Amino acid sequence: MEFYKFSIENPESFWGFQANIIPWFKTWEKVLEKNHPFYRWFVGGQLNASYVCLDQHAEGNKKDKVAYYWENELGEKEVVSYYDLYCKVNSFSKFLMDIGVKEGDMVLIYMPMVIDAIVAMLATARLGATHNVVFSGFSKNAIIDRIEDSKAKYIITATHTYRRGKRIDLLSTIREIENEKIEKVVVLDRDGSFTEGGKYIKWPQNKNFEYVAPVHVESTHPLFVLYTSGTTGKPKGIVHSTGGYLVYVACTLKWTFNVGEDSTWWCTADIGWITGHSYVVYAPLALGITSFIYEGAPDYPDPSKWWSLVEKYRITEFFTSPTAIRMFMKYDPEYIKKHDLGSLRALGSVGEPINPEVWEWYYKNIGNSRCPIIDTWWQTETGGFMIAPFMGIIPLRPGFASLPLPGILADVVDEQGNSLPPNTKGYLVIKAPWPGMMMGILNDDEKYKQVYWSKYEGMYYPGDYALRGEEGYFQLLGRADEVIKIAGHRLGTTEIESAILENDFVAEAAVVGVPDEVRGETIAAFVTLKQGVNKDESLKQTIISKVREIIGPVAVFSSIFFVDKLPKTRSGKIMRRLLKAIMLGKELGDVTTLEEEASVEEIKKAYEELKQSIG
Ligand code: WTA
Repeated sequence: MEFYKFSIENPESFWGFQANIIPWFKTWEKVLEKNHPFYRWFVGGQLNASYVCLDQHAEGNKKDKVAYYWENELGEKEVVSYYDLYCKVNSFSKFLMDIGVKEGDMVLIYMPMVIDAIVAMLATARLGATHNVVFSGFSKNAIIDRIEDSKAKYIITATHTYRRGKRIDLLSTIREIENEKIEKVVVLDRDGSFTEGGKYIKWPQNKNFEYVAPVHVESTHPLFVLYTSGTTGKPKGIVHSTGGYLVYVACTLKWTFNVGEDSTWWCTADIGWITGHSYVVYAPLALGITSFIYEGAPDYPDPSKWWSLVEKYRITEFFTSPTAIRMFMKYDPEYIKKHDLGSLRALGSVGEPINPEVWEWYYKNIGNSRCPIIDTWWQTETGGFMIAPFMGIIPLRPGFASLPLPGILADVVDEQGNSLPPNTKGYLVIKAPWPGMMMGILNDDEKYKQVYWSKYEGMYYPGDYALRGEEGYFQLLGRADEVIKIAGHRLGTTEIESAILENDFVAEAAVVGVPDEVRGETIAAFVTLKQGVNKDESLKQTIISKVREIIGPVAVFSSIFFVDKLPKTRSGKIMRRLLKAIMLGKELGDVTTLEEEASVEEIKKAYEELKQSIG
């Protein structure tokens, strides 16, 4: 395609032109500043994310256009226009300013899927502060780690959320955190259960409108930090810019789903994940479109819930995860057929590979064989979509995320970094910078270089397997590293192992991801117990509870095995691939070729021992 060719050959003029998709207070001096591997976009330019998302529309002809429709499990509803949202954000900014939040501060947001969560993000950005949203399903320890690493001084939270008919307290989790560095905790009181005291203050409701001038920040000013798991122990704080990020998310949403004035867009992701940041909040608002958001489970009280909402709100573009689709595949299709889904024009998928069977089911049952499936490959680190069908105009192939978007130079390479021929599995790499790319890892430039830029000289390494099929179409084949994706949520093996080790009866632990029909992957754990501890089945439940307490309910186990010892190489490295191979039911012959650091004899012995001990 000419457009793609031009973007790759002339990246700076291409992105310089695209950057006009958002309003700037001051034009950049340089489209791209390279200091490999640190890339800075639209340097010298100034803007404000809340101005981009709100003022330009509220002060223009979109004043009364709906920004969000919201609904929850109880059937409660809220509708806000661009002007309403603009007023809410201004007033809340003023409140934050009065309690001391200023440019450069870090604000931690622990909120359910409510419009106020979006208000909190935008109000923070309006003041030139940086937000750090923590998914409301994460538990205390995850929050503590993030407060410490990001040096957050303020927390914005809510009393509770609802899920599957249950009230889930959020404030009590925050109250368990004793961190004297936190200056103020702002609480959205949703049911009158909150009383102010000490650093805990109430989110003011029905305040009079107060205008706060948006702080003009540099394009490279950190809009947010979002933590994500990787190969290393603790989650890393991925830092995103303001200018490059906003340009990139706005362009990519437009190019793929082709959303427009008459769209009612529904991205089902929670704001706690990158998909929520980019495609629930920033891209739809920057483009000035109407979105729907829902606080609740997809199949509660029954599996027709989401589809009834698609019908009711006349959703035009719908974007969800393969896990959600696989879950619906298990139910009677009558739940779907009951509803008129005729408003849908495009369907999206994100977070995990969508296999052809699931793709076909989604295409036929939800899209009635007439809506393109926009499978979007990307990561927290990439900011926005990287490989996805452009404008729904290129022919689709089930199971393929299709082609890189304009400006994205992707390839599949071997261990040495040589491009691979078609239909050969290898590592996905990105060979040129793009505006949505992270600025780095918070407080850790070395790790940034090592994790993403050290495997191949000059290439970004995402950690995914892929192959290129006919006409160069990319098929994504899962993670090539120690990351487990459970229902699309990223967890690192070391992170889970450390949580298991918090049980004082555990001596050693190793975990691997195993395929799961609905969730994509779940955890299989191999655990050795301390001397004198009996292999009591009830300890398994203790382990699971501990991990839930430390990480949160996203860490789902399929099995835990108590073994006498873990298979290790002579240098003491756990033979993870052997563990995985055993879980996948592979033969010994397959296994010996996988482990690089052990002799065939050693592997054979370990394999037999392990098989015996797990029965
Ligand atoms: C995986 C989510 C296959 C991939 C946006 C990536 C996918 C990781 C797809 C990033 C897709 C995401 N097909 N795999 N369409 N989208 N992935 O940071 O392994 O939560 O590296 O970002 O999800 O996960 P993250």
